[in-house]
Amino acid sequence: MRSIALKGRTYPADLNPGGTAFGGWVMAKMDKAASIAVDYIIKSPAVTVTVSRINFLKPIHNGDIFTIYTEITAIGKTSITVYVSVEVKNHNTNQPYEVTSAEFKFVAVNRTGKPVDVRKVIREDVDEHINTLLNRNKK
Ligand SMILES: CC(C)(COP(=O)(O)OP(=O)(O)OC[C@H]1O[C@@H](n2cnc3c(N)ncnc32)[C@H](O)[C@@H]1OP(=O)(O)O)[C@@H](O)C(=O)NCCC(=O)NCCS
Repeated sequence: MRSIALKGRTYPADLNPGGTAFGGWVMAKMDKAASIAVDYIIKSPAVTVTVSRINFLKPIHNGDIFTIYTEITAIGKTSITVYVSVEVKNHNTNQPYEVTSAEFKFVAVNRTGKPVDVRKVIREDVDEHINTLLNRNKK
């Protein structure tokens, strides 16, 4: 199930010399959005282990209002995969269009940074979609 994790606007400090948003700036926002999605389902901290399939589909311009959507797509023994999609609202039409997408994988960790079993730190109030993923990939 897709949720909104972050919203914001692009400012001049976020732009590359070509006048569109830095890829690294967008990726940092996506990483934060994905970590928020993970925080909603587990009680322990989690760290990013991989970022894959990143697609910069369209440029983001100065002043653009963006919304970052997240969807948990897989749960392994200690890992959680989040699909992240960034949409920008067209200023004239108000219609959203996708500008960037990627897959972020997080690992649930304990206080010393060692991987922990997701099922031991899962929150009690997770929704049906998360329960389905937990049951599908039970190891
Ligand atoms: C993430 C980290 C804790 C994993 O530790 P590790 O001892 O390598 O853990 P494991 O080999 O047991 O792998 C843990 C999980 O990550 C997955 N994983 C590890 N490396 C991976 C890779 N290169 N590609 C895909 N998955 C990977 C494993 O498949 C496993 O998932 P599963 O338990 O759901 O099957 C460790 O590599 C680390 O601390 N990395 C730095 C994290 C960081 O600083 N991130 C940036 C800031 S948040």
